[in-house]
Order: sequence, then structure tokens, then C-alpha cells
Amino acid sequence: MKMLISTEFSAIEPFLSLFRPRSFPLLLVLLAFASTLLPLASAQLDKYAKLAGLSYFGTAVDNPRLYNEQYMSVLQGSGEFGSLTPINAQKWKKTEEVQGVFTFAEADAIANTAKAGVGGMKTLRCHTMVWYKGLPSWVETTYSRDDMEKILAAHIQNLAQYFKGRCYAWDVVNEAIDENGVFRQSPMYKAMGLDFITFSFKTAAKADPGAKLYYNDYALESPSLSPGPKISITLAMLRTVKAQGGTVHGVGFQSHLKVGLVPARAEIVNTMQQFLEVVDEVAITELDIRHSPLKVPSTREMWNAQARDYGEVVGACLDVNKGYGGRKCVGVTLWDFTDKYSWVPSEIPTEGEACMWDNNYVKKPAYWTVLNMFKAYAAGASRRRAGMDGVDDGNGTVSELDLEAAAHRGPEGLPGLGREQTTKTVVATTLATARRVRSTARPGA
Ligand code: XIL
Repeated sequence: MKMLISTEFSAIEPFLSLFRPRSFPLLLVLLAFASTLLPLASAQLDKYAKLAGLSYFGTAVDNPRLYNEQYMSVLQGSGEFGSLTPINAQKWKKTEEVQGVFTFAEADAIANTAKAGVGGMKTLRCHTMVWYKGLPSWVETTYSRDDMEKILAAHIQNLAQYFKGRCYAWDVVNEAIDENGVFRQSPMYKAMGLDFITFSFKTAAKADPGAKLYYNDYALESPSLSPGPKISITLAMLRTVKAQGGTVHGVGFQSHLKVGLVPARAEIVNTMQQFLEVVDEVAITELDIRHSPLKVPSTREMWNAQARDYGEVVGACLDVNKGYGGRKCVGVTLWDFTDKYSWVPSEIPTEGEACMWDNNYVKKPAYWTVLNMFKAYAAGASRRRAGMDGVDDGNGTVSELDLEAAAHRGPEGLPGLGREQTTKTVVATTLATARRVRSTARPGA
């Protein structure tokens, strides 16, 4: 290693000396300093979620926020989010308030936001085509089966075709079954029974064959969350829809949860696995964990309890991906990231503070729990890639990912090497050092 350094990388010898074991304290100070300089410029949650094996980490957003500078600077300026979901812009009332007249300006504004900003948020989760709420009054009436088919077909085709190629996924049907496991008496159900679901999925698949088609609902995370057999009824419904020729790729676990009442991580994994027997992928689609009731002022203990609960849910999405035959929990979406705009207090005024950022855009403990969990998973994955599972740096404080991030922070990388080569050099040297430290300092050190 020494030879290699002095012949090939002599120009960076002073830099490399930082990675000798006796220099670790200095290195840590430098890293800490560097990380305070550029807090916004480096992608965080989404970057590490991807390194940890997810396809994206995202948030939902509603149109009025697009005019708030502070909100937008977190949404777009930080690279925290690799995916967006419109909160209301694609709902029936917003897109076809008058029968046959389609308006997509609000949804376009969010789709365009997804393309801009640090890292360019590439993924758009589209939400939602058929839901029993958010309907215009002309849909909320009694129709014959034939008429309802025509209404559904026109709505779904228009949405799917207009956004074709832009939606990674579509929540085709949302919340068709209540907490007791009973089909909701929506105008669609009343006209067509369960067939409205199969019909919706078939129509969406024809109109946008490239999108992943999801069934999306709450209280699917664990049987403990609903008094009735909601999970088994939903599984049976999905099997029926598929047997009838409907295409369903995924199931969205909304995960609107309450602090202290979040199912254990292993329990959520277990439920996700049941769904992965029926569909190809699952996702956490509307995550927020509210205090219920909300005590004011909130305390550090409350936020720590919330952080643990966020860890259970996001951890389940990571865990289920370990050796589960390529079928995956693909990503996590927050139902907005700041308490300032959370939907919870407007629905239930005695509950709230459900998000990962507080009212003033300050990151809560939940943020750090989730980020650190991604980093830990990512470090494990990168060690496995390097064939070094189990190797650490000897004192458990310097991870190759931190160093990788540090190398990327330099605008040009090291002189004469460029970014990519700098990163490779730094990582290779660190891993070699880690191996050496381990073999000399252990056992018995
Ligand atoms: C909510 C929005 O957040 C609110 O602004 C709106 O008034 C009602 O709908 N499940 C869903 C979401 O699938 O679409 C809902 O969003 C929250 C529950």
C-alpha cells in the first residue's frame, strides 16, 4: 500500500497521511468542520435511502406551499427528497370538477417542481384516480353500472394519458375498505360492486402501461391497527382483482400513525411479506406519526418517542428487502415534511406535530434517526460490495461513506485526480487502513 501511495499518488501524500490511525482525531475534526460548511448542498435522506437499497425517499406536497420560499428551499434546495406526491392536485375534484372538463394546471406545477432543484427529483408518485373522498358533487350520486363504467373510464384514461411517462406509480384505487374490513359504500361500489376495482386497474394498465399501479390504504401495517379483518379482506380483494385480469403491481401502506401505537418493526415486515406474496412491491406512501393527544409545549421525550416510531416504520421497509426474492419495499414518502403544513391538526385539532421537521423547519430527532438508519444500512451494503462484510475502522467512528462524502465536498477533488478518482482513492485507503488497524489493534487491544 505504501509503495502504491508513493508511486501513483505522491501528489496527495499529505492528504493521505490524515488517514493514518494516529490522525483519526484530526480527521474527524476536519470532517465535522466540513459538514457544517455545506449543510444544504449535500443530498441527505434520499441519497442515503438509495445507498441503503430503496429507490427513493420522498415527500407529499400541496400547491399553496409552492409559494413559500422557506418551504421550497428545504423541498428543492437540499436534495433530501428524491420523489414527490401531489397531496390534492390529482384528486377527482381538482382534475374533473365538471364532467368531461379536465384541468391539470395544479398537478403540472407539482410535476414540474419534481424536475427542478438539487439533484432533480426524478420520481413522481401520482395520487389518486379513484377514491371515495375528494369527489365533485356530480360523481356523488347514484349511477347505473354502465354509466359508472363510462365515468370511470373517461376519468382514468384522461389522467393516465395526460401524465403518461411522468408517473413512476399511480395510486389507482385508494381506501376502498374501511377499518372493519367492509367495502366502503362509495358511488363506484354502489354502482359496480367489487368490479369497480378490477375495472379501474384494467383501464389504467391500458392507458399507461409504463406506470406501477398501486392499491393504497391505511391500517394495513398490522392487524393491531384495525378492529376488523382489514388486512385479510384486502389481500383477498387483491387476489380477486388479479384473477379477474386486473394489473396490480404494488400496495401502498399509508402509515398515518400515532406515537406509542406504532406496530413493531418485525410486525410490519411480516405484513409487508404477506402483501409481497400477491404483488411485486410495497411502499410507505403517506408517513406521518402524530402525537395523540398533543401535549403543549412538546418535550424532548415526546420527540424521542416519535423518532423511535419513525425508525420502526422506515426500518421495516429496509428489513423486508433483505433476501425477499427481489420483491421489495421500494421507498418512503412523508405526508409532508413540516408540522407547519401537516394535515393532522386541520382534521383533528387535538393531535399533531406528526412530521420530521417542526413548525419552524427545524429537523426533529426523527430526522436523525431515519438518516442514521439509512447510513448504517448503506455502510453495510458498501462493505458487502467491497467483499469486506464486518470490517470496521477499528474504533467504530469513521465510515467509508463519511469519507466518500468528504471527498465529494471538494469542488474539484484532489489536485490532478478529479472527483471520482479522489473518492476511489480515499475509500480504498480508508478501507486498507481499517483492515490494518483491525489486524494490529485486535484482539486484546
Ligand atoms: C388529505 C389531504 O392531506 C388533505 O389536505 C385533504 O383535505 C384531504 O386529504 N389518505 C389519503 C390522502 O390518501 O389523500 C389524504 O390527504 C390523507 C389520507
